[in-house]
This record gives sequence, structure tokens and C-alpha cells, in this order.
Amino acid sequence: MVGETQLSPEWLSGKRIVVTGAASGIGLGAAQLFQRLGAELVVADRDHPALIKAWSELAPARCQQVDVVDEAACEALMASAHALLGGIDGVFNSAGVSDVVAPALEVAIADWQRVTDINLRGTFLVCRAAGRIMLAQGSGSIVTISSVNGVTGIPRRHAYGPAKAAIAQLTRTLACEWAGAGVRVNSLAPTYIRTPMIDRLSAEGKVDVGRLERRTPMGRLGEVEEVGAAAAFLLSDWSRFLTGVLLPVDGGWLAYGGPGDVETA
Ligand SMILES: NC(=O)c1ccc[n+]([C@@H]2O[C@H](COP(=O)([O-])OP(=O)(O)OC[C@H]3O[C@@H](n4cnc5c(N)ncnc54)[C@H](O)[C@@H]3O)[C@@H](O)[C@H]2O)c1
Repeated sequence: MVGETQLSPEWLSGKRIVVTGAASGIGLGAAQLFQRLGAELVVADRDHPALIKAWSELAPARCQQVDVVDEAACEALMASAHALLGGIDGVFNSAGVSDVVAPALEVAIADWQRVTDINLRGTFLVCRAAGRIMLAQGSGSIVTISSVNGVTGIPRRHAYGPAKAAIAQLTRTLACEWAGAGVRVNSLAPTYIRTPMIDRLSAEGKVDVGRLERRTPMGRLGEVEEVGAAAAFLLSDWSRFLTGVLLPVDGGWLAYGGPGDVETA
């Protein structure tokens, strides 16, 4: 047994965790899982009405409105979570937006900047506000969300993929900087996950789910809870010797390098 940490069979028993982007999709599903695994939560989102609706059983003070691009709002979120919970053991950064899909010669710089700001600047500001508290505590685990698109290039996605690659690099940088102070920082690289966003894009004919499934060694999209489970592991003490990791949650997407559909390769 290394160190004094007690490993709980309830992975997140007593862990005080802040989740951004918790009104929808991965953030919502992951936070619900963290709660089932024993965590105490503060949930946050820019869309406060949707957050309150999704978390009607949680005390209103634990449902915080935040725009992750706003530095003061990120600092206030962590200060308030610290006061409410008595400390912060974990942070899951799920606030994010998908890309404007446009050829490089046509993409509007304002759109490029917005996607970059919410994904990259937002992740940095949330990590830094959390780090301020965790470094003083001498402990904590932060999980960011990159993407398979942060590792591989996709045409006409000039803001999202580069921002997600930068999030992975930011994660490594913070992990190295804060490891000696007891704070771990890791990242997830999900493939396409079944969320309302993907269902909507599919219904609008903008995403071909069948094609994505054929490109995936495990033959299907991911589920929100599968991303949540990977995050729960990284937030728990079971991963206490992991920091600076980029963990794919992708059914084999990044492992595959064949010329076409997996089944016909
Ligand atoms: N769904 C996928 O297939 C997929 C794949 C890889 C990575 N991701 C990443 O996972 C994260 C969650 O995606 P999702 O699919 O759950 O999306 P989603 O749209 O369902 O949820 C994102 C949440 O973030 C909130 N949000 C957006 N901008 C914000 C801001 N500035 N401040 C605070 N909250 C804000 C939204 O209100 C929303 O509730 C994103 O970072 C996304 O890039 C998603």
C-alpha cells in the first residue's frame, strides 16, 4: 500500500466536486453518475434555467450560473463552491461548444474566436480558479475534455480541433506544474457521444451516424455515462498515480488507421 489514501469501493464517496456544463449532455450525465458514486456536487452552466430544471432536487445555491469565458465568474464559482462544500476535491470541465463547420477561406473570425474562447480560455480559467483553492489545500483532481478531434484533423473544423489539442497540452502543462503540490490534472478525448447535440445534428442531416459507427472499431457511438465513468476514475483516488494523461473514450477510434470503414478494411 502506497501512502495513506483509503480507496473507497464507492469511488467518489465524500468527494466535493464542481461540474461545469452540467445542464446538458456529458456534463449532466457525468454529474448524475458522480452523485450515484457518492460525490457532493456544485453544478454550473451558462444556461441557468436549464441547469435549475435538470437539478431541481439539488439546493438552488448548488446550481450556479457561470460563463466560463468570464474570469471573475470562474473565480466566484470556485469561491462559492469552496464555501458551500468546505473544500473542492474535484472539478470536471464539461462546458464547451462545437465548431462552426466552414472552409478555412470562409470561416468568420468572430466565430473562430468564440469557439476558441469557450473551449480553451474557459478551460484555463476554470482550472486556474480551482487550482487556486486546490494548491492551498494540497490536494485535488481536475479533469478537462479534449476530443479525438484534438488528436486527428477534420477538414472545415479550424477552431474546435485546435482548441481541443491545446486543452490536452494545457492539461499536461498544469499537471507538471501542480504535481508536486498534490494536484492532478488529466484529460479525456471522447469520440462522438450520443447527446442531444448529436441527435439534433443527425436529424438535420449534418452528421451521418451510420458512417461514424462503421469508422469505429467497437461499431457504435459512445454514451454519456461512459465518458462520466472515465471522469469518475480520474477524479477518484483509484487513479492517484495518473497525471497529465490524455485518455481516449472512443471505442477504438484513435487506434484505427485503416483506409475506410473498419468492417471492410
Ligand atoms: N458530444 C460529443 O460527441 C463530444 C465529443 C467530444 C468532446 N465533447 C466535448 O464534451 C463537452 C460537453 O459536450 P456535450 O456534447 O455534452 O455538449 P452540450 O451542448 O450537450 O453541453 C454543453 C454544456 O455547456 C454549456 N456551456 C456552453 N458554453 C458555456 C459557457 N461559456 N459557460 C458555461 N457553460 C457553457 C451549455 O449551456 C451546455 O449545457 C464539450 O467540451 C464538447 O466539446 C463532446
